[in-house]
This record gives sequence, structure tokens and C-alpha cells, in this order.
Amino acid sequence: MLKVVDHPLIQSELTCLRDRSCPPHAFRTHVRRIASLMVPAVTENLETEPVPCETPLEVTSGARLVRPIVLAPILRAGIGFFDGFLDLLPEASTAHIGLARNEETLRPEPYYFKTPPELPEADVLVLDPMLATGGSAAEAITRLREAGARNLIFACLVAAPEGVATLEQAHPDVPIFTAALDRCLNGKGYILPGLGDAGDRIFGT
Ligand code: PRP
Ligand code: URA
Repeated sequence: MLKVVDHPLIQSELTCLRDRSCPPHAFRTHVRRIASLMVPAVTENLETEPVPCETPLEVTSGARLVRPIVLAPILRAGIGFFDGFLDLLPEASTAHIGLARNEETLRPEPYYFKTPPELPEADVLVLDPMLATGGSAAEAITRLREAGARNLIFACLVAAPEGVATLEQAHPDVPIFTAALDRCLNGKGYILPGLGDAGDRIFGT
């Protein structure tokens, strides 16, 4: 399942991000805002259960999430995207997944992996601003599954059709949410029109 979250506020923030003259401090702010604006769509199918609730006037029925939430940013660009999710989901715990894409092979190279104990029973939101070849997202989800994760969702800012196809083939049961579905990859594996290297633009490297 692919859902493009094309709310007007998100599209306007995304246009600022794509602009090559957007400096790192403004870039981080726009990424964080888009992430927060995406939270309602990304979490809309989380399971809830009824709970009794006593208002000052009477007893009524409320709802609570069935499972805890784990946010799983793919380092390092995922950290910038993670902040906006954590703003709205402050009780979530975090799984850190360190992957760096080899610039020649375009394959992800793992360098760090740490998950919280509630991973198996949690709703796990895997976060990365960019879905290009799809190699990093597919690898992250494979490693999370090996660590016991069962309920997974992937969210990104910009996706390429090639990355969507790879991820859907590797993990057909994982829904994909993106703020934009771009045209294609260039010869170096960058998304067109895209926004360039998200990690470099977030951290000013
Ligand atoms: C970027 C991006 C994704 C990956 C996407 O990270 O944040 O993780 O590339 O490319 P793919 O879909 O082809 O795997 P990068 O590996 O450059 O590392 P960084 O976050 O440290 O900049
Ligand atoms: N990673 C990025 O940061 N940008 C791209 O366009 C592709 C991969």
C-alpha cells in the first residue's frame, strides 16, 4: 500500500525544502514540520481498544492505542525526520538503525543497530526522508524483523518509483507513506527532481 500524503501545508513546506538555496537551519525546520504534519496520516490505522473514562459529569467510553509505538529512524538523515514524529508521539521509544549507502554500489552498509525491548509488540514506524533505490529501507525493515518487529510502517518525505517497487517487493505487507512521489532516479541514484542529499542538507555537511 502506497499513500502520498499531499496535504496543501505539506506541499508548501516541501517546496521550500526542494529549493537549493534553503540553508540547513531552515531545512531542518521544514523537515520537522512536514514530519509532524504527516503523523495523523501515518498513524491513522493504528489499532485502538475501548476504555472507560470518567468525566467530571459521567462515565463514558474512550479509546487507547493497543500497542506501544517505536520510532525507527534510519541514520543519519532519519534523525531530522524523527524529531517531528517525536513532537507528536513523545511517549514513543526509539530504535536506531545506522546504514550508509555506498556511493558506488548504492548498497546500504550497516554500522549501528539498537532496539528497545518492546519492539516485538510495538507499532514500529520506520523513518527516512529519502526512498531512492529502496535498498536502505528494505534492509532496515529486514533487520527490524530479524529483531522481532511485527507491525511495521515506512514513512518518508520523497520517494522514487524505483524505491517503492523495491520495498513493495521485499516487504509487501509494510504500508509506505510519502509526502511526494517523484519522477525517477538519476545515474548516481539520486531522486529527480528530489531535494539533493538529505543528510548533507540537514546537517550542513
Ligand atoms: C540516504 C537516505 C536514505 C538512503 C536512501 O542516506 O537518508 O537512508 O540514502 O537511498 P536508497 O533508497 O538508495 O538506499 P545515506 O546512506 O546517504 O546516509 P546519511 O543519512 O548518513 O546521509
Ligand atoms: N539519498 C538522498 O539523500 N537523496 C537522494 O536523492 C537519494 C538518496
